[in-house]
Amino acid sequence: MTRIGIAFNLKPEPLTTPIGATLASAGETADPIQRDEEPPSNEAARVLSTRERSAVIGQPDGAVLVEEVSADDEFAEWDTAETIDAVADALGAYGTVIQLEATAEFPERLRTERPDIVFNMAEGSGGKNREAHVPAICEFFGVPYTGSDPLTLSLCLDKSRTKEILSHYGVATPSFTVVESADAVTDRWPSLRYPLFVKPIHEGSSKGITERNLCQTPADLGAQVDFLLETYAQAVLIEEYLPGAEFTCAVLGNGQTARVLPIVGMDFDALPDGALPVYGFEAKWLWDRPDAPLRIFDCPAAIPDSLRRTIESTTLRAYQALGCRDWSRVDVRLDAAGVPNVIEVNPLPGILPNPADNSCFPKAARVAGISYQALIQTCLTLAAERQGVRLRRVRA
Ligand SMILES: Nc1ncnc2c1ncn2[C@@H]1O[C@H](COP(=O)(O)OP(=O)(O)O)[C@@H](O)[C@H]1O
Ligand SMILES: [Mg+2]
Repeated sequence: MTRIGIAFNLKPEPLTTPIGATLASAGETADPIQRDEEPPSNEAARVLSTRERSAVIGQPDGAVLVEEVSADDEFAEWDTAETIDAVADALGAYGTVIQLEATAEFPERLRTERPDIVFNMAEGSGGKNREAHVPAICEFFGVPYTGSDPLTLSLCLDKSRTKEILSHYGVATPSFTVVESADAVTDRWPSLRYPLFVKPIHEGSSKGITERNLCQTPADLGAQVDFLLETYAQAVLIEEYLPGAEFTCAVLGNGQTARVLPIVGMDFDALPDGALPVYGFEAKWLWDRPDAPLRIFDCPAAIPDSLRRTIESTTLRAYQALGCRDWSRVDVRLDAAGVPNVIEVNPLPGILPNPADNSCFPKAARVAGISYQALIQTCLTLAAERQGVRLRRVRA
């Protein structure tokens, strides 16, 4: 019987004390946010870290005040037992599943268990190469694994390196620069056209991305870059703001047979009146609540065929340029001329199993007629074919 490892980071148990947020300027009190609830389209917990608290409190009008904060960013993208169990159940159709939590014992367990293949969903812990750790250890021991290799995972976790590669291959992405320290801001962005959008270089799940990141003037820019440098202790990407529609595109497959699943469009009219058309921190964490889910996704996106084809080809070119394998999700937005630009590439896509959680990759798969189980199994079989691992179905 084939032995299939599943490598994951399990999110710690929720705290007993709920994390509360107060929407002070609106004069209303938000429901307490529980750590084990998931935002749409990614698997981050509703954990407000100390850094995010700073980001939220940093709203110019003090709009949002987070009352109590605990936990660490490190866990924000880790998976819940519900997601890990759903993936393990799907993998069980092809053999015995061995749970390999990505703790300090992972290398030794991998060496002794020696599964035939590892399904990698570990977001990793610590540093800008965190997503590359598990695949690198698998390579070290010669164990085949699903998804992108360590190089691609690290590249995609660096928003500027991603854009350098996209630019080299002629894939449209907004003009940009990177600032490492506050002193460097003034002399390195003269050729960029306002408005500009800024973000921490190594984060995901919209950490550090609030409405304040859209900068109309050099004064806005200087202030927000300083704030992000200080709060996130990492370089800041400054790029031209894309004013057009936004999409996220799930890709499944390799080489010539890689295909884009039905495109997910963002309907920014679903955001509160006056909100900027940005899928950032507020949209993912404050305005999307279990009692009032944000109906922001539209799949398949209602767009003309010609635009759909252009978005698909841009997405596939980004996927190939970055060396993605088996699956990835590509964020795309239109520029002022309506040309699709790539914002970022996610080679470890969010895969929440519950349709109510609005996770984009499983949502696109469902629209394509691919169930959650079939999606996970397709990723596994693609990886197996690529690496010459023989798989046989042992149950329906
Ligand atoms: N250059 C840009 N122009 C317009 N909006 C942007 C730009 N970059 C990011 N955004 C907005 O911010 C959101 C989050 O940015 P993204 O780079 O995808 O970060 P994350 O890793 O947190 O998903 C995007 O979904 C988009 O709405
Ligand atoms: Mg994104």
